[in-house]
Amino acid sequence: MMVAPGKGLLAADESTATAGKRLAQYGIQDTVETRRLYRELFLDASGIEQYLSGVILYEETTEESADSGTPFVKLLADKGILPGIKVDKGTEPFPGSAGELITNGLVGLSDRLECFAAEGLAFTKWRAVITIDGDKLPTPAAIVENAKRLATYACDAQKAGMVPILEPEVLLSGNHSRIRARDVIADTMKAVFAALEDQSVDLGGIIIKTSMALSGSGSGHPDTPEEVAESTLDALMKGVPPQVPGIVFLSGGQSPEQATDNLRAVARRAQALNAPWPLTFSYARALQEEAMELWRGDAANMPAARAAFLARLRKVSDAARGV
Ligand code: 13P
Repeated sequence: MMVAPGKGLLAADESTATAGKRLAQYGIQDTVETRRLYRELFLDASGIEQYLSGVILYEETTEESADSGTPFVKLLADKGILPGIKVDKGTEPFPGSAGELITNGLVGLSDRLECFAAEGLAFTKWRAVITIDGDKLPTPAAIVENAKRLATYACDAQKAGMVPILEPEVLLSGNHSRIRARDVIADTMKAVFAALEDQSVDLGGIIIKTSMALSGSGSGHPDTPEEVAESTLDALMKGVPPQVPGIVFLSGGQSPEQATDNLRAVARRAQALNAPWPLTFSYARALQEEAMELWRGDAANMPAARAAFLARLRKVSDAARGV
């Protein structure tokens, strides 16, 4: 269901701090109410169920309701959209390696998952961050520790009856080449699947969320969509076993147009290669950016902002089918 043809996920799981930063970017004051309206803009837009199989929520949003009074979790479920939740507790510096991060959130996770499942949340997400710095980073130690935590989380989520999305995000920032990004993604996936095997996680009940293999944003090298498709599929073919039922992409700082064009090229190449997994989107910024530009916190702009969101969703959904 999560990777049904032509459908994908909206990542609306910005932490409170990240949501505040997003609002500030568009000149909107950060309050509990503006964060709720930020969610309202996207979650109560009519027609999103044509394009979205699921939405990843942040804990704060699961306790809130739309203007209509309907809780956001119910609002999504009523539309036939699976509500999911980010369950990691964010990152902190990885001890012993300057510039690398490790994700927290395993303490008490099983109990939290039980509560989330009881609230009707169907799937979960854990984000790990992998940083590239020339040949120096990532270190094998950071990859392995992040992979182990992803596997422990996946095991706990499956025990709670929820599908885990495993997101080892290889950051776009840096001067590295697309080829270096490809190799880091492949190596990271290999470490993740080794850790999943150690923990006997059911590979038929997970979703992988990944970056595309792009040249670093500071490299000055713009990749063509065909180049991105080639390096991305190379990395995934090397690193992700065929029994995984779906792979979704984050946008990672690509513009809405870039994230759409690159997804289309990836989908076409996957079709040509007969790739074993359905591939689709799980974007935050690339789906939200144009709507946020128009909304800017003013209720009068809500209809235009929602129309822009729907238009982008349609394009991204087409792209996921290679159209
Ligand atoms: P972006 O699409 O903005 O990269 O966000 C997706 C996501 O879920 C990052 O954790």
